[in-house]
Amino acid sequence: MALWAVLSALSPIRAVWFTLGASFLLNVLLQLVPPSSLPSFALLQDLIRYGKTKYGGPPRPAVCRRFDVPKRYFSHFYIVSVLWNGFLLWCLIQFLFLGAPLPHWLHTLLSILGPTQAQGGELALSAFLVLVLLWLHSWRRLFECLFVSVFSSSVIHVVQYCFGLAYYVFLGLTVLSQVPVDSRDGAVVHCNYQIPFGDWFEYVSSPNYLAELMIYVSMAVVFGFRNLTWWLVVTYIFFCQALSALLSHRFYQSKFVSYPKHRKAYLPFVF
Ligand SMILES: NC(=O)c1ccc[n+]([C@@H]2O[C@H](COP(=O)([O-])OP(=O)(O)OC[C@H]3O[C@@H](n4cnc5c(N)ncnc54)[C@H](OP(=O)(O)O)[C@@H]3O)[C@@H](O)[C@H]2O)c1
Repeated sequence: MALWAVLSALSPIRAVWFTLGASFLLNVLLQLVPPSSLPSFALLQDLIRYGKTKYGGPPRPAVCRRFDVPKRYFSHFYIVSVLWNGFLLWCLIQFLFLGAPLPHWLHTLLSILGPTQAQGGELALSAFLVLVLLWLHSWRRLFECLFVSVFSSSVIHVVQYCFGLAYYVFLGLTVLSQVPVDSRDGAVVHCNYQIPFGDWFEYVSSPNYLAELMIYVSMAVVFGFRNLTWWLVVTYIFFCQALSALLSHRFYQSKFVSYPKHRKAYLPFVF
């Protein structure tokens, strides 16, 4: 009941981020419970694991494999993000700098998702800056997927794939919802997994997930630190990346007996 009271007090957009953050927190906590004291929930395991951590989990029933999608489809997320968030950016530029109204359907969608928490030109400019950063980030990730990453034959669940597509659409809408729109009209050596060393890897198993968190925290700085909606986004990212980092850490520990004992999963010296 208390949870329902919290959710109904939040705007739809905040309720979504709150629910995502809470679900991933729950999943992190479930991972910390000894596996023997819980049923294995094969479908849940299949939904939270992807890439290399699928191989570190319990045996996968044959039916689960039918929903596998190649992990190289990650690039689709960033194609969608570059196109969609580029479109939102274009709309926002027209709105902020040329005085053109947002498309009617977009305006309606934003009003349904939840009104912005404050009025004022600074918030609009902050949202503009965050959207530019998000768009550049999407280009960078697309470039990485197309020209840097060497994808193995690893897979993701089709639900994770759909989630990834929807994620960047919803994230862009979240940024735009912060604008008070009513206030004015290399060479491949091999494909085996190895223990990574150097730089941040000396402290945590997944510095890329930690860096992802820092990207979103830096966007919170642009929003002036006091934007609750964005902190809910950051909370979701925190737990979503914590879950992946924890699974990744366990994968390394189970696969490599010599895995550095002092290395944490996600947060240096802490977790
Ligand atoms: N914003 C979000 O909600 C969100 C969600 C997920 C991911 N991301 C971001 O997307 C990026 C990629 O995520 P990811 O989960 O795919 O990262 P990852 O597990 O580190 O994988 C990146 C690449 O490195 C390979 N790899 C991983 N560990 C390896 C090892 N020990 N030895 C050799 N190769 C290894 C992976 O192969 P395999 O594919 O075979 O594992 C994959 O090709 C990250 O920056 C992450 O933060 C963001």
